[in-house]
Amino acid sequence: MSSRSRLRSTETKKLRTGGDYLDFANRLLHAKGVAHGQGFLNEQEESLTLMSAATGLAWEKLPQCFKRELTEKERSRFVELLDRRILERIPTAYLIGEAWLGGLKFTVDERVIIPRSYFVELIPEIIPQWLPPVKTIKRVADICTGSGCLAILLAKYFPSAEVDATDLSGEALEVAKINVKKHRLEKRVKLFKTDTMTALMSGKNYDLIISNPPYEPESVYKKLPEEFKKEPKMSLVSEKDGLGVIRKLLKQAGKKLNPTGVLLIEVGGLRKAIHKNWPKLPMVWLATQDGLDCVCLITARDLQKIK
Ligand SMILES: C[S@@+](CC[C@H](N)C(=O)[O-])C[C@H]1O[C@@H](n2cnc3c(N)ncnc32)[C@H](O)[C@@H]1O
Repeated sequence: MSSRSRLRSTETKKLRTGGDYLDFANRLLHAKGVAHGQGFLNEQEESLTLMSAATGLAWEKLPQCFKRELTEKERSRFVELLDRRILERIPTAYLIGEAWLGGLKFTVDERVIIPRSYFVELIPEIIPQWLPPVKTIKRVADICTGSGCLAILLAKYFPSAEVDATDLSGEALEVAKINVKKHRLEKRVKLFKTDTMTALMSGKNYDLIISNPPYEPESVYKKLPEEFKKEPKMSLVSEKDGLGVIRKLLKQAGKKLNPTGVLLIEVGGLRKAIHKNWPKLPMVWLATQDGLDCVCLITARDLQKIK
C-alpha cells in the first residue's frame, strides 16, 4: 500500500475478530510512522480508542470484541477511522471528538489543542502544598484555557473557588463553553475572550493563577509532525521565540495575585530561555513524572520584582 492511498479491502479481507483488526491497526500505525503525544502514548492506545468508537464499547468493555467477529458496520467504521488517522494524519482525539484528562471527558475538535498538560498531575497534589487550605481558595485563574480542561479540573479540586478562564481565540472559547456546560460548572467557571489576563486586570485578585500557554518557538513548530499542525497554530506558537504570552503574563500576574498567591506556568522546552530572560526572578521547577520538570512556580512576592 502506498502511504497515501486508502486501505484496500484485500488488505483487511482475512481479518475477522476485533483482535485481528487491532493487531493489524497497531502494525500499520507503527509502519506508517504515525506520531503520538496528543493525548495518547502509543499505537495501542490509539487503536483501542478507535475500536471503542467503531464498536460503541467503552474502553473497559473492549475485551468483549477481541475474540468475536466484528459486524460489517463495525469493520467499515474502524477501517474508515484508521484510514483517516493514517492518510490525513488527523489526531485520534479529533476523529472521535473527545479527549480525556484527569479522568474527565472533554469535547474537542480542530478549534482547540488536544488536552495533555502537566497540570493534570500537579493540580491534585503538588499545587495545594503551596497554598493555604484548599477550602479557603476562593479565586483562581486559568490563562490560555483552550478547551477549558484545566479550568474545569481547577473547579473540581478547589470546590469553593470561582475560576476565571481566558483565551484569545473565540473559537476555542466556543468549545470551552460546551465543556463547562457538560461539567455543570457555568456558575463557577467564567470564560473571557482576551489577550492573556487583560480583561481580568480590573477585577478582584486571585489566590492562584495557572497557565499552559503557547510556547513553541517558530523553529520548533516548523519541525513538528503533521498531526500537530492540525491543531490551531496559536495554541502552540507565540512569537518567534515562543515567549510572547509568557512575557505578558509575567507582567500582568504580579498585579493580580493575593499576597499568599502563586503563579504557575508550563513552559515546555523554554526552561533555559526563561532563566536567560529573567535571570533574577526566583522560581521553583516542579517535579513531574517524566522528569521534564517544565512547570515553574513563582510567588506573588517575587513577581512584584518584575517591571
Ligand atoms: C497550549 S494551549 C492550552 C490550552 C489548555 N489550557 C490545555 O492545557 O489544553 C494555549 C491556548 O492559548 C491560547 N492563546 C494563544 N495566544 C493567547 C493570548 N495572547 N491570550 C490568551 N490566550 C492565548 C490559544 O488559543 C490556546 O487555546
